[in-house]
Amino acid sequence: MDNFKVKDESLAKKGFLQTEWASKHMPVLDQIRRRFSKEKPFKGLTLGACLHVTKETAVLMDAFLAGGAKVALCGSNPLSTQDDVAASLANRGVHVFAWREQTTKEYYWCIERVIDYSPSITLDDGADLVGTIHSKRTELLQTVKGGTEETTTGVLRLRAMEKTGDLKYPIIAVNDAFTKYLFDNRYGTGQSTLDGILRATNILLAGKNFVVCGYGWCARGIAMRAQGMGANVLVTEVNALRALEATMNGFRVLPIAEASAIGDIFVTATGDISVIRKEHMQKMKDGAILANSGHFNVEINLKDLDELATSKRNIRTNLDEYLLKNGRKLYLLAEGRLVNLAAAEGHPSEVMDMSFANQALSVEHLAKTKKMQPKVYAVPKEIDETIAALKLSSMNVRIDKLTSEEKKYLSTWEMGTI
Ligand SMILES: NC(=O)c1ccc[n+]([C@@H]2O[C@H](COP(=O)([O-])OP(=O)(O)OC[C@H]3O[C@@H](n4cnc5c(N)ncnc54)[C@H](O)[C@@H]3O)[C@@H](O)[C@H]2O)c1
Repeated sequence: MDNFKVKDESLAKKGFLQTEWASKHMPVLDQIRRRFSKEKPFKGLTLGACLHVTKETAVLMDAFLAGGAKVALCGSNPLSTQDDVAASLANRGVHVFAWREQTTKEYYWCIERVIDYSPSITLDDGADLVGTIHSKRTELLQTVKGGTEETTTGVLRLRAMEKTGDLKYPIIAVNDAFTKYLFDNRYGTGQSTLDGILRATNILLAGKNFVVCGYGWCARGIAMRAQGMGANVLVTEVNALRALEATMNGFRVLPIAEASAIGDIFVTATGDISVIRKEHMQKMKDGAILANSGHFNVEINLKDLDELATSKRNIRTNLDEYLLKNGRKLYLLAEGRLVNLAAAEGHPSEVMDMSFANQALSVEHLAKTKKMQPKVYAVPKEIDETIAALKLSSMNVRIDKLTSEEKKYLSTWEMGTI
């Protein structure tokens, strides 16, 4: 069995420095790592992870290694692996199978190499690892104890499996912890999506018509940050409540069929499929830029784009030009994959500090809990609250405590108008 497969082992030193930099901005995970290294909660356990291989993920892997785990890791997207980080992880004993720019076949080959290590706990981002275990590698279902899921799309897929009775082991939905989605999906995706767009294009955002498809947690962050850079933000939605919220937050809400003709930049963040399709692309202005920040590369219909185009050129890294039959040019960023991870470095470490603290403590919870049903579980409330308190304290923010009078008032009904 191969111990690891990365692009270039000689990049390890650079990867170590990147990880050191991330670690400096992840104080909550650092505290957890120090406790793990004393208590060794994962002694004798193998963890199998399918996560974006970034410097922040390396900090999480360090915490597991410190806790006594053996770790196998592959990337959760063919374009998101940071090769220097992957090399440094291989160097410190992680069985890492990941490199940037994989084919779909290579991507699933790496997932299977992780499964070869027979992990008893899985960590997933998008549910491709869990999906492969349930479809191709069912032998692992006899021994696997539980797993975690990092993102909205993965949780949706797992809930669908639970509903049809296909889910065979318990999963903790890390995405749904408050200390995850309120910060990672919103501020993390907000900042890093703009970072990806800027690194790929270096365009000026001020004054541009910036269309955000969706107004969920990720899209809210993208809309908010684009507005902050002076863009004129338009939102498309299918959910009336979210559309109402976007309207009252001051954004113009309209159907994608109308937004298509107006937008200079389009960003999808819906977790849905074919949100931008042929009929929309045909209406777009010459020079319009298309990017996706949702989990899979299906939100912009790439087959439609190919069919409409007479030619395609790569202009610069992560920027492809499509010349359409109508003579206009459209520009696609990062092949329609998560633009913040493929064209930038993913979320800032400060945000991943909380997301990965949830991962670390949820994996510990799975390791310590005897029997759980094959269901999708919420992150235990105490974990969420502990992380919020630790993060605030690391930021030197102090808050008030309820007095006994306040506690009594808030928990009784007798006192009304006085
Ligand atoms: N880029 C990243 O780093 C990152 C981080 C976290 C989550 N994600 C992914 O981003 C996606 C969105 O996650 P979220 O947490 O914001 O989900 P969410 O459920 O909060 O929001 C999705 C929104 O999209 C809307 N929507 C669905 N179909 C639509 C359509 N055709 N047109 C317009 N709006 C539509 C829904 O009504 C909903 O309001 C998921 O795929 C998730 O896995 C990416």
